[in-house]
Amino acid sequence: MPLTIQSLHAWEILDSRGRPTLAVEATLSDGTVATVQVPSGASTGTHEAVELRDGDPRYAGKGTRRAASHVNGEIAAALHGRNAGDQADIDNTLIALDGTPNKSRLGANAILGVSCAVARALSAARRQPLFETLSLGAPRLPVPMINILSGGLHAGANIEFQDFLIIPHGFDSFAEALEATVKIHGVAGQIVRRDGYTLTGVADEGGWGPLLPSNRDALALLTNAINDAGFEPGAQVSIAIDVASSHFYRQGIYELRSERRSLSSAGLAALLTDWTRQFPLVSIEDGLFEDDWPGWRTLTDKLSATTQILGDDFFTTNPARLRRGIEEGCANAVLVKMNQIGTLTETFEVCRIARENGYAAVVSARSGETEDSFLADLATATGAGQIKIGSITRSERLAKYNRLLELESRHGLPWQGRRFLGEILGRRATPSN
Ligand code: PGA
Ligand code: ZN
Repeated sequence: MPLTIQSLHAWEILDSRGRPTLAVEATLSDGTVATVQVPSGASTGTHEAVELRDGDPRYAGKGTRRAASHVNGEIAAALHGRNAGDQADIDNTLIALDGTPNKSRLGANAILGVSCAVARALSAARRQPLFETLSLGAPRLPVPMINILSGGLHAGANIEFQDFLIIPHGFDSFAEALEATVKIHGVAGQIVRRDGYTLTGVADEGGWGPLLPSNRDALALLTNAINDAGFEPGAQVSIAIDVASSHFYRQGIYELRSERRSLSSAGLAALLTDWTRQFPLVSIEDGLFEDDWPGWRTLTDKLSATTQILGDDFFTTNPARLRRGIEEGCANAVLVKMNQIGTLTETFEVCRIARENGYAAVVSARSGETEDSFLADLATATGAGQIKIGSITRSERLAKYNRLLELESRHGLPWQGRRFLGEILGRRATPSN
């Protein structure tokens, strides 16, 4: 007898910004109960699946009671008695029931919550760790891309670029990489204070949000922090940025207000190219506007031999957009955010397409997160190789890092940080190997 879905229950909870999101509980035929919590972004891409919000006076329109009621009514009725082990059937049923191309009728928040709650309940019923239930092949711990400095929509737009991150790859274990990160994060904070920059508080993903004179200063500060913490920039610890450029793009122009200048697409591409030469910058996310396909192609042609060109708002974890990007030679890596697309099955499909076409995959959290650690198991299960969860402060972030520490300690899963540069960047030199 297969395990079947007995009941589903959803309710409104709050995310790490104090905004409503959903918790969804699945109960299986053997009595197993499991809950998941759904994340929510702020710097969202235009082509994302749609979160259903109530639009009434509660929480300035952001309530999620309608999405919860869809789970408790229509969705629970449609999935009652379904085989919990057939994730594709469950997700396809949800997609068909919704009936829209962007999941806007039932809500991608409702649909994703159900999709993930059933998977977690199945893993609990089977007494398996979640990564085994989700496994797409050989599981491995991801190399983290960790936010240290924030700008853009996550830090009051003090500087325009959204994330300045480190990739600690030149270490023997995930635990050592995380220890180095904590040291670098601390040193970065000391530099900010020493140099007299105003700290605007902790940003949405737990990183520092200093008022810096320019975007470039953030890269210089980060490189100094790696050095001053006693690590070798490039050899042990590299840098990644999320430009999130769609959020300061207006009619063909990128407006860098903090620097009192504007750049064309070619100008921004030239700036990014310069930075890859001046700093140990190995990964650039959303370097150009989300619908500038020719610009993405040019940037990819220019930089893909040495740099990870990562599409977030550009791909929105959408299999069709990723396929188009592959056909047109745009980017060489995809950011994977479950709630951009709305089901586990489609998330897996994006990971599979990426792998089959030599694109890297970076499993990512949202800026609005919860204490759920689902993502750590997802990144491990897909063997994606990379994860992006924010900084190493704030418990909604630590829930994921701590789960990865548990997976390394308890399950002895492999971590291949020292292979990172060779694997991801192909021809780039790997001095630490
Ligand atoms: P978001 O930001 O969750 O606010 O969309 C994360 C990112 O852009 O990577
Ligand atoms: Zn992004």
